[in-house]
This record gives sequence, structure tokens and C-alpha cells, in this order.
Amino acid sequence: MGSVPIVHRPAAGAQRDARLVCFADTRKEAREACMGKLDDRALAQLFTDARTHFKWHDREVPDALLRELHDLVKMGPTSANCCPMRVVFVRTDEGKARLRPCLMQGNVDKTMSAPVTAIIAFDSLFYTRMHELFPDMADEARSWWEGEEKTGSEHGFRNGTLQGGYFILAARALGLDCGPMSGFDADAVNSEFFPDGRFKANFLCNLGYGDPSVLHPRLPRFDFDDVCQVV
Ligand SMILES: Cc1cc2nc3c(=O)[nH]c(=O)nc-3n(C[C@H](O)[C@H](O)[C@H](O)COP(=O)(O)O)c2cc1C
Repeated sequence: MGSVPIVHRPAAGAQRDARLVCFADTRKEAREACMGKLDDRALAQLFTDARTHFKWHDREVPDALLRELHDLVKMGPTSANCCPMRVVFVRTDEGKARLRPCLMQGNVDKTMSAPVTAIIAFDSLFYTRMHELFPDMADEARSWWEGEEKTGSEHGFRNGTLQGGYFILAARALGLDCGPMSGFDADAVNSEFFPDGRFKANFLCNLGYGDPSVLHPRLPRFDFDDVCQVV
């Protein structure tokens, strides 16, 4: 039993209430009301029909949607809530002109034509902000990671990459299409956008409403038995 003794099953459609019930009570009935499997349409939008896009419809991605996107991404889990991802949304002609020379040739057109290109980076000194993120453990958490930027930023990179994955799925959940790219010169992006050396570019992600008519057939994926074991 959880902390609140009386829980009523919410009426159909009252999903918001169901979520509140969930926080207050851990009974199976309440959990099922808010933790059910997504329907096929939602799974298709996030995974099975979702594709990597490179040609974009002429449809704006407003700043309010970028904020909504971040409000989802920030909820994804990271080690001790360290949240090292930092993002620069490049949408202006001036910003795109700064990015252009950093791109591999094959990524230029798709990036220049995208409504927005996100530079997904991480803060190599993320541990200095733990007092904002895990106040009760800030000093201890800082001691785990202090100085790791001198030896490859293992945790900053790992958690920043996880957040980059959440970013793609959150964008899809909001109806956006993504075009992630690692074909760029990270040193060039870092010196252009993060000249003090603290933030490090991880990957780029074009955002917009993709044109599915130009996509090639999906490449194969591994099956469970090829790459998974249950021990
Ligand atoms: C981290 C990352 C880097 C990628 N880099 C590039 C790139 O530089 N250029 C490109 O055209 N596609 C790039 N891709 C796109 C992948 O090739 C694509 O996501 C993959 O083939 C799956 O395609 P699908 O989502 O349409 O099934 C990248 C994808 C990811 C996740």
C-alpha cells in the first residue's frame, strides 16, 4: 500500500487524474491505469514507422515547440540526475552559415534546408551544477566525477548521449521528424559554438517535418536472437 489510502479508478479518458493517483498510491490497479502499453499508432510514430529524414517540408518549427521538446527530454533518466546534455538550436541564416563549414559534404544540403538543426552537446563540467540537480548529494556526486574531463568525460558523454536518444524520441512524440548526424567536424563545431572548451558537441540533429516520399526502403535490423541473450 502507498501513502494515500483511498484511490478511485479514474473514469475512462481521465488520464491526468490517473497519473496523480499513480504518484499517490502504488497499488497495482493505479499503476495499470497510467503505465499501460502504448497503442500501435504511438509505437509506430516513435519506432516502427519513424524514419531518419533528410528532405523537409516548408513548415516552421516554432520556438514554443522546441521548449516543449526540452520539457520532455529533461525527464529522461541520467546518473544521479546529472543531466549533462546542452543543446544549441540553430535556426537562423547566420547560425546555419556558422555551421555549414563544419559539415561533411553529404550533410550540407539536408542541414541547410532543415527548419532547425540541434547541436547536441554535453557539459564536460556538468558535475559543478549538481547542487541544482541533487542538492542532498551534490558534494558527494561531484567527488565521483570531478576531473573526469581530463580522461575522456566518460559519464558526461554517456549521459549526454542517453539524453540525445531521449531527444530523438521526444521529438517524434511531438510529431517532429529527426535527421541525426555525426558527419561533421566536432573540433570545428566546438571552436565555433563553444569557444571556451567546456561544452563538447556529440551529434547534430536536424528537426522538421520530413518528406517521406524520398526515403529509401528501411535498412535491416538485427533480430532478438542475433544480438540478445537472456541469462
Ligand atoms: C548518431 C547518428 C549519426 C548519424 N550520422 C549520419 C550522417 O552523418 N549522415 C547521414 O546522412 N545520416 C546519418 N545518420 C542516419 C542513419 O544512417 C540512420 O538513422 C539509420 O540508417 C537508420 O535509418 P532509419 O531511421 O530511416 O531506419 C546518423 C544517425 C545517428 C543516430
